[in-house]
Amino acid sequence: MSRVVVTGRIPKPGLDILRRAGHEVDVWDSEDQQPREQLLEQVRGADALLTLLTEKVDAELLDAAGDQLQVVANVAVGYNNVDVEVCRERGVVATNTPGVLTEATGDIAMGLILMATRRLGEGERIIRSGTPWQWGMFYLLGSGLQRKTLGVVGLGGIGAATARRARAFGMNVIYSSRSQAPRDLELELGAHRVDLDTLLAESDVLSLHCPYSPATHHLLGSEEFAAMKPSAYVVNTARGPVIDEAALVEALQSGQIAGAGLDVFEDEPEVHPGLLECENAVLVPHLGSATIETRTAMATLAADNAVAVLAGEEPPSPIR
Ligand code: GLV
Ligand code: GLV
Repeated sequence: MSRVVVTGRIPKPGLDILRRAGHEVDVWDSEDQQPREQLLEQVRGADALLTLLTEKVDAELLDAAGDQLQVVANVAVGYNNVDVEVCRERGVVATNTPGVLTEATGDIAMGLILMATRRLGEGERIIRSGTPWQWGMFYLLGSGLQRKTLGVVGLGGIGAATARRARAFGMNVIYSSRSQAPRDLELELGAHRVDLDTLLAESDVLSLHCPYSPATHHLLGSEEFAAMKPSAYVVNTARGPVIDEAALVEALQSGQIAGAGLDVFEDEPEVHPGLLECENAVLVPHLGSATIETRTAMATLAADNAVAVLAGEEPPSPIR
């Protein structure tokens, strides 16, 4: 029997997998993030950790767990919260949950595109604030998506899911990516790869789907916003620090770009106060994977990963 520490509340089917495999499961059973000191206590003696993206998995945490630790199963596709190098050095297998949240996150990206371009958040705020309104020929006009260009940064699973949705709304797709997408995906999406400069210049909606790493830190800043069309929108469902939030506020305020839809923030859960003042920013609290189905699938995949490593097997989705 191994000791598995789960650092926050996860859907029960995930816990069931761990228990059925015969492990002792210790869950921080709260929606509130566990204080770090307490977390360092909780992980002591763990053979496996299931971690949420709000936990920093670093040398300190691994030290606190101890040498018997075999696996860190992050319950997220993004793993910028995990120091993968340190895990590797110590022979701790790190895993994430790719695939299972692709469609849910594509839905949120498309939702943000619609909200931003059709000014749905502004409209909602008007009605809820009791401000008088009536239908008007020129009232709250947004911009349509037909024949516009979606620029995808990072054409992985979520980028492709978003592009499929955008195609159904009549958009054309271009993308920039570290590597060329498979030919059949390009054909399906009618998409071709361009460099970032071209992507910035040609996109009517730019949607971020790259992982966060030092290489993508502030990928979009003042220079990049200046290179975009004044009619363009930026959507971020990836990680907050891919955008220089202060520069985004300036771009939104000065009309350098038309609007933004954000599911993630540079210093979560803090939101740059300037964004709160921008009517042309749609702001939602990191809901990309937040469906019952998806969170359940994330929990079960993370549990499968942990159970496999503890059994001496190859886990379904190791971080490579
Ligand atoms: C959510 O943001 C994830 O990375 O799973
Ligand atoms: C709008 O509501 C219309 O009927 O055209």
